[in-house]
Amino acid sequence: MARFRKDPDPRFWRLNRSLPFDWQLAIYDIDQSRAHARGLAEIGVLDAGELEKMVAGLDRVESRMAEHGFAFDDADEDIHMAIERLLGEEIGPLAGKLHTGRSRNDQVATDVAMVVQAHSLRAIELCGAAMERLLALAETHRDWPMPGYTHLQRAQPVYLGHHLLAYYWMLARDVLRFQFALDSASVMPLGSGALAGVNWEIDRDSVAADLGFAHVSHNSIDGASNRDFVLDYLAAASACAMHLSRLGSEIVIWSSSEFGFCELDESFSSGSSIMPQKVNPDSAELLRAKSPRVAASYATLLGVMHALPLTYGKDMQEDKEPLFDAIDTVEACLDATAGMLEGIGFDRERMEEASGDEMLAATEVADLLVRRGVPFREAHGIVGDLVRDAVEHGKSLSELTPVELKQRSELLDESYYEVLQRSSWLESKRIAGGTGSAPLAAQIEAARETLSAVQARVREERS
Ligand code: ARG
Repeated sequence: MARFRKDPDPRFWRLNRSLPFDWQLAIYDIDQSRAHARGLAEIGVLDAGELEKMVAGLDRVESRMAEHGFAFDDADEDIHMAIERLLGEEIGPLAGKLHTGRSRNDQVATDVAMVVQAHSLRAIELCGAAMERLLALAETHRDWPMPGYTHLQRAQPVYLGHHLLAYYWMLARDVLRFQFALDSASVMPLGSGALAGVNWEIDRDSVAADLGFAHVSHNSIDGASNRDFVLDYLAAASACAMHLSRLGSEIVIWSSSEFGFCELDESFSSGSSIMPQKVNPDSAELLRAKSPRVAASYATLLGVMHALPLTYGKDMQEDKEPLFDAIDTVEACLDATAGMLEGIGFDRERMEEASGDEMLAATEVADLLVRRGVPFREAHGIVGDLVRDAVEHGKSLSELTPVELKQRSELLDESYYEVLQRSSWLESKRIAGGTGSAPLAAQIEAARETLSAVQARVREERS
């Protein structure tokens, strides 16, 4: 840098240099530079010939990088300096005009906002693909009974389709979160300069339109210091990865011999190096284990930004590694989820057998008493006693005799045995959002509509 007489100490350089990770900004930085050059030409800072030369030079830098990879100089501090140097090799001193009316502070904020926009959209697309698989599975398994759990203890039977759709709605909310991140990254910081704005009246709206930003920032101080859009992406990615970890965890449990509810396709499993019989659900285990590192990225950047005085501080260079890592992780997890769900197989008999446990009908018996005027709390107590009687005498609930029933409540008659017919336990959940076939059909319809809206949104953004 101009006023310096000494070279940076290598110990400082190692800490300071961001090229090992910010090379990933290159395509965005070059795009941004072409738009900035057009903005400069609009106000006469570059003449038509200079603009043409500069854009052609940037194009060549881009193709050089694409062809030969990112071969940078040890002296390059970051991707922005590297690209300016490479541009100089292409077009000579004219390259020095590109940084007119721009600071690396608004430049880097703009690059990172472009990354967040691109990858929020990609996340929405990948969520849509996973939702599509879940919906297809829910439709084909809409009438397969299985036990629903609380505390991982059998609680009440549900249809497998209903259970799978629970994950569908989690991802649908993730789509909304990624959409929020996309919108918050659609405000262009470029033009904020170092912090106060710049001395050139570049038409920011026109540069924004050129780069696909919906708005320009209102305040240059905020523009140079804002990384909320990165935090918004990381928050969305953390929630999404957490949802996938719960799905992964259930698949691990369900695919154990003890449960035997499902089996992953071999292409998403691995074998044991010592035990030939084993098929391990590694993909599901990794979904479970990847989630904390995404949340850690979120926590890292919140920590970096915490109490940071306005505007830019070099601290903010530390936004990139957590962001890039979260992007790689959540995209890999979403992609693997869709693939894993393509080949998953469920065991109807095992699930049905497990859901046939009569104890799962305890709430149904309580509700029978409630229909006969017993307050629910009291009914809960009576059924609790019946369950204890049954367990103590080594009987199932339906094996209790009419005499034994009458000892607990005068109101328990033949209907008690009807309620214990298992087909009624699921279909009794007729309330909207319940597992019964009718509300489940309505839910599937709503899920179809939501999915079409997500897919239409992606198509619209991509067109
Ligand atoms: N590499 C820097 C970053 O990622 C670019 C901005 C540098 N700005 C500065 N004033 N030193 O944040």
